[in-house]
Amino acid sequence: MIDLHCHLLWDMDDGAESMEKTIALCRSAVKNGIRIIAATPHLTDLELIEDFLYERNQRIAELNGYLEMEKMPLKVCGGAEVYLDHHIFEAESLDEVTINRSKYLLCEYSLQPFQPERAALFAEEIFERGCTPIIAHPERYPTFRRYPSIPRELRDMGALLQVNADSLAGLLGKEIQAFAKKLLLDGTADLIATDAHDPQFRGNAIERLQKQFPPEISKELIYWATWIAPQYVLRNADLPERPKGI
Ligand SMILES: [Fe+2]
Repeated sequence: MIDLHCHLLWDMDDGAESMEKTIALCRSAVKNGIRIIAATPHLTDLELIEDFLYERNQRIAELNGYLEMEKMPLKVCGGAEVYLDHHIFEAESLDEVTINRSKYLLCEYSLQPFQPERAALFAEEIFERGCTPIIAHPERYPTFRRYPSIPRELRDMGALLQVNADSLAGLLGKEIQAFAKKLLLDGTADLIATDAHDPQFRGNAIERLQKQFPPEISKELIYWATWIAPQYVLRNADLPERPKGI
């Protein structure tokens, strides 16, 4: 698996608090068949991009050095989870905070209700800066659940959508699980990631979570959403049409 959304870097955001926890997440990743992780700490203050990059890149270099020394089959690449609000219109280049220096930018909206037209407006701004948004956990936004045409609209604009494994496993309740399932099955969402924050309470044990996915989510669809589609993202390529019947 390739995990495109993970808060494993220590002491950067509300993710792993210590390097020990980071390493615990790495061990759990390896056990669960994860081979590449995009480290995506929250980026909420766009004025502090330089500091963010310095801190993130230092940690990634140190962590990859450790993984190599320990001969663990796991690589970590850079990314960020960029919070979309009106500040996005003032941001300078977003190139450095994309996933693996591709055109793909992991973005999150507010978990509080917001005006529905803002969803496309913010996404448009990302496109105008030459990036392609990957919308993190669309199933979690109350505004998207209230206006379920928004995720489709974003997909039609060219964005990719990423659902969380714990949402799909029902850990956040039935409504969120059903919405995550719908988005994947109707072709709106193409990516599944862990959004792991902590080895114990919000981890990346995807193999266990997978057992709780709704039965309609086929093995082929999971393979597409956790391995095939993320490879296109890392290679900075456009996602081809999903093969029929999965
Ligand atoms: Fe996240």
